[in-house]
Amino acid sequence: MIVVTGATGNVGRPLVHALAQAGEPVTAVSRRPAELPEGVRHRQADLADPDGLRPVLDGADALFLLVAGEDPQAILGAAKAGGVRRIVLLSTQGAGGRTYELTGPAPITPRQRAQAIGDALDAPIRFIEQSRDEARAQMAQFMPEPVVDGPLAILGDPLPAEQRVSLDVQKILGRAPRTFADWAARNVAAFI
Ligand SMILES: NC(=O)c1ccc[n+]([C@@H]2O[C@H](COP(=O)([O-])OP(=O)(O)OC[C@H]3O[C@@H](n4cnc5c(N)ncnc54)[C@H](OP(=O)(O)O)[C@@H]3O)[C@@H](O)[C@H]2O)c1
Repeated sequence: MIVVTGATGNVGRPLVHALAQAGEPVTAVSRRPAELPEGVRHRQADLADPDGLRPVLDGADALFLLVAGEDPQAILGAAKAGGVRRIVLLSTQGAGGRTYELTGPAPITPRQRAQAIGDALDAPIRFIEQSRDEARAQMAQFMPEPVVDGPLAILGDPLPAEQRVSLDVQKILGRAPRTFADWAARNVAAFI
């Protein structure tokens, strides 16, 4: 059994669908009720209440955990006590500690990424550059205004350090990172 927290969010929802499609048994966790693919079990629980998560985690093999609540260590303790052997943590920009820089094998611009998706589709994709104000107005539709400036700075005006290729993927996986074009070709069905 794989327990997916944040199961109704931007990240969790497609993960639950992908796991269910792959035939994996899934327990989806969120505070509010949710519509889920057939066969997926839903449990209402709050990450701020690790004890309330214990019945959900008992007997699970794996946990997909997002950073929420005040005591992640207590959640890890409950997972370990319940027999969970594998945990994938969805981090946030605010997290510190050991950091891996995950990049592809070469820098690539948004315009080049659009071109690569067009090549994979064998169809022309038009790239439309937004002004900073247009991008800010669009992002403010789905994230709080005070939060917009951080991602906007990274996306709109990346620092030299943010454009450097890192060797960390090679270090972790023991193989070179794949190109964006390769990813687009393998996932072309998602763009049709
Ligand atoms: N989206 C991204 O591109 C991205 C990138 C990097 C990191 N992250 C991080 O990943 C996390 C999830 O992102 P998201 O975009 O998927 O968020 P989201 O769309 O806002 O979804 C959050 C999910 O978590 C659940 N949730 C929130 N607080 C909870 C709590 N206290 N207990 C139990 N469930 C809770 C929500 O359901 P209920 O409200 O019903 O509980 C919902 O299913 C965030 O911490 C975010 O910072 C996101």
